[in-house]
Amino acid sequence: MVYPIVMYGDPVLRKKAADIEPGTDLAALVNDLYETMHAANGIGLAAPQVGKSIRLFVVDGTTLEDEPTLKDFKKAFVNPQMLNEHGQPWSFEEGCLSIPNIREEVERKEKIRLRYFDETWKEFEEEFDGMKARIIQHEYDHIEGKLFIDYLSSLKKRTLKGKLTDISKGDVDTEYRILAPLRK
Ligand code: NI
Repeated sequence: MVYPIVMYGDPVLRKKAADIEPGTDLAALVNDLYETMHAANGIGLAAPQVGKSIRLFVVDGTTLEDEPTLKDFKKAFVNPQMLNEHGQPWSFEEGCLSIPNIREEVERKEKIRLRYFDETWKEFEEEFDGMKARIIQHEYDHIEGKLFIDYLSSLKKRTLKGKLTDISKGDVDTEYRILAPLRK
């Protein structure tokens, strides 16, 4: 099932998401998240972006031909815990399915160490770097109620204000179904 994607301005994107009860059957929901993400041509999608305030996100970078490091990077992350972020900060232009048609440079640390479960409740503790780390950092922010635009300068934020209001009203062009909090 393809969900509509929640737009900027919806309070669910600002909530710290809740842990999932261990053992919960997540097969159907994880499938739906992949389906929703693929329908929108995304490489990451967090549960709050479909209105569910729980600690779960999926990533799939396997179709990005210019990013060979991501060729096996398709995973669900359940109850992830960021253990640390380290290394040299680097900048990259990010976007977000909940903030369509806005892309901005965001600086993040190069490496992370993460503890998480997959959708079958197998536990992992793993180090990620480069693009993998960045995608996880962006999605992890979603379950903490944080968005990439939070990292921008206040000047930059002011210049985006009109566009962000339009997005909240659903006044934005997307190729996927959206749920806009201020749509009349
Ligand atoms: Ni996002």
